[in-house]
Amino acid sequence: MSVHSRFAKTAALAMAGMLTLGLASCASGGGDDAGGGGDDLTTVGFVAVGPEGAWRQANEANIQDTFTTDAGFELKYAPATNLDQKSQIDAFTSFVDEGVDVILLSATEGSGWEDSLERAQEAEIPVILIDRGIEPDDTDLYVTRIAPDNISVSESVAEWALEQFPDGGNYFTLEGPAGVSVVNERNEGFTSVVDGTSLSSLGAQTANWSTEEAKSVFETVLKSNNNDVQFVFAQNDEMGLGAIQAVEEAGLVPGVDVKIATIDGTQGALEALAEGKLSFVAEYNPLFGETALEVVNSVLDGDEVESYIVVPSETFDSPEAASTALPTREF
Ligand code: AHR
Repeated sequence: MSVHSRFAKTAALAMAGMLTLGLASCASGGGDDAGGGGDDLTTVGFVAVGPEGAWRQANEANIQDTFTTDAGFELKYAPATNLDQKSQIDAFTSFVDEGVDVILLSATEGSGWEDSLERAQEAEIPVILIDRGIEPDDTDLYVTRIAPDNISVSESVAEWALEQFPDGGNYFTLEGPAGVSVVNERNEGFTSVVDGTSLSSLGAQTANWSTEEAKSVFETVLKSNNNDVQFVFAQNDEMGLGAIQAVEEAGLVPGVDVKIATIDGTQGALEALAEGKLSFVAEYNPLFGETALEVVNSVLDGDEVESYIVVPSETFDSPEAASTALPTREF
């Protein structure tokens, strides 16, 4: 199945899912009214990640712009302190003690959530995972997860890479932080396609979603491999931009000597793709606040929802595709 048809399938399934959800929500009198409206606002505790990069900024702003008082909600935004899980667990506990109507959770760490989620369950407060999953993935501990499909997104990167390097080559992976669910999912999707092919891994290292750190890591990789690296899988845009800087500092041409593929699809990455410095960008769509609102209304109406609601995303594989998308890019 080609990259595009796989994505078309995923997007169609996701859109169908959302449509069903929307119909169910409307049929059950869900929609904004279920948010309480008027003085009786639905309280939403959002245990968030906080400052982390362009993707996170877009995602959390979209959630906050959607769950407004006009829509019938009081959103209580609780970003982590320096990405620290303990600060998230403390905020989560406070929301349970406060008796909010629903909790949205974007987990900085995949593991360590069982006690918190069980407490919310005992308090009969539904928990909806935003973007990040939990590990182990006990779907009894939360109502649903809303996110693009990390495995499918990273498979699309791998399938593009195999098309680009039919005779193989050396690649390196710039990972997000250890212990984050999406990092494991992206590794799973990517290696499930490239393992056993003539694309050969020189290794993987975290650069913590950071441009500066990715530049430093990849400078070392280039030096230690005498620049014999043909491809970089950067698990987010910022790290891909750092790899570009390392390639240029080594006197090489990004997009020619070293092809770099990234995940997210933020404006900065599409600009680099339009310039030919990135070669492939797989969108991980952050703008799903409306879907989250529909899900919250459906859950509070007592409707059944899918355990994983896939947010459709697209891919960009040329400067032309990037230039076409940029004028209307929302993040
Ligand atoms: O969980 C999504 C990831 O977190 C994005 O790909 C990355 O940019 C963000 O920091």
